[in-house]
Amino acid sequence: MAAIGSAVGLGNVWRFPYVCYESGGGAFLIPYFVALFTAGIPLMILELSVGHWARSSPPEAFKKIGKKWEWAGWWTVLVPFIIAWYYIVVMAWCFSYMIYSLDLRWGVHAENFFKNFLGDTGSPAIIGDISVPVLLGLIVVWLCVFLILYKGVGRIGKVVAITVPLPTILLILLTIRGLTLPGAIEGISYYLTPNFSRLFDINVWLSAYAQVFFSLSLAQGIMITYASFLKKKSDITNNAFIISLADAGTSFLAGFTVFSVVGYLAFSQGISIPDLGLRIAGPNLTFITYPTAISLLPFAAVFFGMVFYIALLMFGIDSAFSMIEPITVGVNKKFKISKAKATGVICIVGFFASLLFATGSGLHWLDIVDHFVANFGLVMIGLVECLILGWMFKLSKIRDHANKTSEVYLGRWWDYLIKFVIPFVLFILLFVAMVNNIVNPYLGYPWWIIVLGGVAPCLSVFLLSFVFMKIKQRNEVI
Ligand code: PHE
Repeated sequence: MAAIGSAVGLGNVWRFPYVCYESGGGAFLIPYFVALFTAGIPLMILELSVGHWARSSPPEAFKKIGKKWEWAGWWTVLVPFIIAWYYIVVMAWCFSYMIYSLDLRWGVHAENFFKNFLGDTGSPAIIGDISVPVLLGLIVVWLCVFLILYKGVGRIGKVVAITVPLPTILLILLTIRGLTLPGAIEGISYYLTPNFSRLFDINVWLSAYAQVFFSLSLAQGIMITYASFLKKKSDITNNAFIISLADAGTSFLAGFTVFSVVGYLAFSQGISIPDLGLRIAGPNLTFITYPTAISLLPFAAVFFGMVFYIALLMFGIDSAFSMIEPITVGVNKKFKISKAKATGVICIVGFFASLLFATGSGLHWLDIVDHFVANFGLVMIGLVECLILGWMFKLSKIRDHANKTSEVYLGRWWDYLIKFVIPFVLFILLFVAMVNNIVNPYLGYPWWIIVLGGVAPCLSVFLLSFVFMKIKQRNEVI
């Protein structure tokens, strides 16, 4: 349940629908499912097995694989920590919008309202001030994360028993409402009409793999950490299938929720869906388009507005704390400080780091950091994970471990996927994406912005993982 909670999050409601629509609509389901079955599920099995086998946090698990690989474990827990910095900012926006739904405060000009709310400066180069409502939301969400985590895993179990089923029910409710609105069908057909020519674009494939990694919370040390708490007899492959399919199903459903309402919006404004333009992309969808549509609802607009943001918050919270849990367990074990202290330190550092994304330029930095960390960071870690576990270790040991407890028997094909197919695909994707990004800098930004928002976070996290490993070695010598 906690792993499903981690996987199902803003990525499903906020990221999948627009990635899907931008990448060929219904045709995107082909690369998506290919990515899910050739990389997502096999890697999910790998991570769950490693965690279950090592029964420890990722740094220790990698150390068990081989002493010199401990850094890889640190790398996998540091990346989600960075993702949490901005992920929690988006949750802070949801928190404010949940309150604003009470009187539909965004009114008819949701776009201006969103910009004012953020204090948007329009460019990453002009930092601007910290937005007070975002700051308040940040305090609330970081505090929740701290309170859920500081006592150990016991609380996670209790929280996810509510925050996994409830928002799913709310999402179904919103979908039913959406589908019964005029124009909904046009919205859905826009979302799903296949544009097969997009399949020849390598970026679409990269997006599919990145989306699968991001959405399944893979290559983040999360599944390794959570699996280390599983019972000895838990069925690994079954768990992997359940988590992955629940996640994919929720994404697909969320597309209906969102695009039915997009169709309604176009219908009620008397324009075609493409004319909604950029408002369908990224955060705009959730914070401009959706609220506009909500305020046009014939009845119970306040109710549906609240339900939408409450659902988002609940979907998000278990993903948010799952990003923090692995690093706190790692720090707790390594530096021999209590779990409460480790959680406190991490949350405070995270809170201050989040402030950058709460400024007037935050939206732009968030987009840049997300583009690089989610597209490159995750895929790179996935690649390294496969190389270390597949080539530097006897992979069949891990397969045997999974087979011991699992109903679905993993054959040698799984080894081939981890050793050859996945690394090959990931390598090609990374290479092409890198060339693309060098030839056409992301959104045409100047090089220093790309270096600061893309290269610096990815590189510093990578280097920091060696520092963490070295600290330990020094301690051991002392
Ligand atoms: N899987 C989460 C989502 O879809 C996001 C996430 C990414 C969680 C990375 C943990 C680690 O929203």
